Amino acid sequence: MSASASNKLEFSSFDPFGEEFRDNPISFDEKLLNDSPGFMLMEGDVPSAYIAKYDQCLQALGNWELFSSVKPPNLPGMQRVDFFNGMPVMNYSDPPQHDRLRRVVNVAFAPGRVRKLADYTDSVVKELVDNIEPGKPFDGMQDIGRPLAVKVLFDEFLGIPAEDQHIFFEFGATFYLLDKLKPGDPKPKEYIEGWKKGEAYLREVLANADKEDRKNVLSMIANASESGTMSDSEMMAMVCVLFTGGVPTVSAMGASSMHYLAKYPDIAERIRKDENLAKAFCEEVYRLDAPVSLVMRFATQDVDVGGRTIPEGTPVYTMISMANRDPDQFENPLEFNIDREENRHLAFGNGTHVCIGNAITRMILPKIVVEMANRYPSLRLDPESSGVWETTPRSRHRIKVPLLA
Ligand code: HEM
Repeated sequence: MSASASNKLEFSSFDPFGEEFRDNPISFDEKLLNDSPGFMLMEGDVPSAYIAKYDQCLQALGNWELFSSVKPPNLPGMQRVDFFNGMPVMNYSDPPQHDRLRRVVNVAFAPGRVRKLADYTDSVVKELVDNIEPGKPFDGMQDIGRPLAVKVLFDEFLGIPAEDQHIFFEFGATFYLLDKLKPGDPKPKEYIEGWKKGEAYLREVLANADKEDRKNVLSMIANASESGTMSDSEMMAMVCVLFTGGVPTVSAMGASSMHYLAKYPDIAERIRKDENLAKAFCEEVYRLDAPVSLVMRFATQDVDVGGRTIPEGTPVYTMISMANRDPDQFENPLEFNIDREENRHLAFGNGTHVCIGNAITRMILPKIVVEMANRYPSLRLDPESSGVWETTPRSRHRIKVPLLA
């Protein structure tokens, strides 16, 4: 960090990982948006910046040369978000390494593939909606969001059989332990064991995979390993990136879609009359309930943002979910409005790292919305039970959405 730039910083007490912010991020909007970019000391003494304004987040996301995604080794705080055991993964790499990793699986996300997955999604959607019993309480996460994401993404798209998926769920369930680490702490035992189990499982699957068969992502990764494009540990990291990037986020958006559909019966009625509105409905769900709260970047040199200098080397907390509520970009930002003329939210990021799964997500979710709206016109929030949110340092999800149909 250049001394002259860092000397002038004024630090606030804002803690993007703090319970207070995670419990009620909206209450911070006005102050943080007005002050952005702001500075804070993280992990005791690491000068860090946050950016929350929409145009500032676009600037950071759109310029990887100034805002790198590569975590500086040994930077305190990074131990909390090192989900992939220090392996290079596309989300934490810059070009050209990023592009090499993204290319391995890119074809799985091409429009033709997404169309193929659409037929399978139709059958899953029908099955889930058929399972709902009118008059009985059900949950938007357990009964809709999660099984939808698991069946479409895990079973079919990734190609990991249902009976083996627990290996990855159990590994994912150890991530919260990272949140408790102090700088220098070793990785928790449970995390390391989970990683090893996953690695051993994949090694075996990939060794036996039919290299001619490119029907799912696992077989594509097997091909890449065969051709030497990826190392063994990169493969494990890649599967984890796709699983952790896709399953919790799509589950969460499934649950949130059910929440808003039940909350706004007038909008559900409009969707019954015009199914095309389900797309705009879902965009509003992604904008308002963006499951990824923030993404990390690191200033590669002194860089001007909003008239202030973010010094070289500074970790930059890019608050994409707050940018989605920036009143300079979205009129009445807290209003759920499916008629916005422009809804260029940042829920999927932007630029080099824009979510590789965004087209798949945008194929899946409108289907469940249309089917639920058509089949259960009396869908409503269960007045006897309240919803529950779950937060991690970088995500915020509804995990319980009690409903009646
Ligand atoms: C509602 C659903 C989803 C949301 C809100 C979401 C959100 C995001 C965001 C914000 C980023 C950008 C990260 C950054 O800039 O550092 C991202 C990247 C990524 N997402 Fe998603 N995601 C979703 C679904 C999926 C799905 C279904 C998959 C895969 C099956 C996926 C896999 C990835 C991967 C691999 C990246 C890294 C891309 C890169 O670095 O080039 N995501 N996602």
